[in-house]
Amino acid sequence: MIIETERLILRPWRHEDRDAFAAIVGDPHVMRFYPNTRTRAQADAWMDKMITSLANKTGQFLAAERKSDAALLGLLGTANIEFDLPTAPRVEIGWVLGKNYWGHGYAPEGAAAVLADAFERRRLPEIVAFTARINLPSQRVMSKIGMTQDPAADFEHPRIPVGHRLRAHVLYRLANPHRR
Ligand SMILES: CC(C)(COP(=O)(O)OP(=O)(O)OC[C@H]1O[C@@H](n2cnc3c(N)ncnc32)[C@H](O)[C@@H]1OP(=O)(O)O)[C@@H](O)C(=O)NCCC(=O)NCCS
Repeated sequence: MIIETERLILRPWRHEDRDAFAAIVGDPHVMRFYPNTRTRAQADAWMDKMITSLANKTGQFLAAERKSDAALLGLLGTANIEFDLPTAPRVEIGWVLGKNYWGHGYAPEGAAAVLADAFERRRLPEIVAFTARINLPSQRVMSKIGMTQDPAADFEHPRIPVGHRLRAHVLYRLANPHRR
């Protein structure tokens, strides 16, 4: 499973990605909209889970590599949603990039290609994206790739404690334009 764009290759994970991935998800600034940074062991477990999900087709979070220098920028892709949401559908798109790579439009470039694959090849009816209400950069990416916020689908994340600043979530949607 490889998705290529002008500047990026989205591809399966390799052992050599582990150090760079752990540095990204261990960075408090990158992870400021997540409840916690990840330790090295947690980063490895996260990557193992993505590798398993690719194999059993429950998720397609891919390694985002920059073509010009083969740098690992982070993760980008889709996955089946694993917890109860008050709304269908069940497939989300998401991204986490290292902070050195922000501000160049890499996330929207890769995400647009992931959406095209999801709609044209996989024929998924709809994709959603969600994040903490206060995560405005991620919501900018959602808007840039044509997703629309559905205020009726705002939700409190069931895995984040009541009263936590990240518990309030917003949900964006995009229906497959190729399906009636
Ligand atoms: C969300 C994220 C992937 C954006 O990726 P990106 O490739 O930088 O995307 P863009 O270049 O299109 O920038 C998107 C927005 O990020 C913000 N942004 C860009 N560079 C930034 C920087 N250096 N510092 C802070 N915010 C920045 C801006 O709001 C920008 O919107 P704009 O283009 O209208 O100004 C990246 O910020 C990230 O990985 N964040 C941490 C992980 C995360 O929150 N993931 C989402 C979990 S749901």
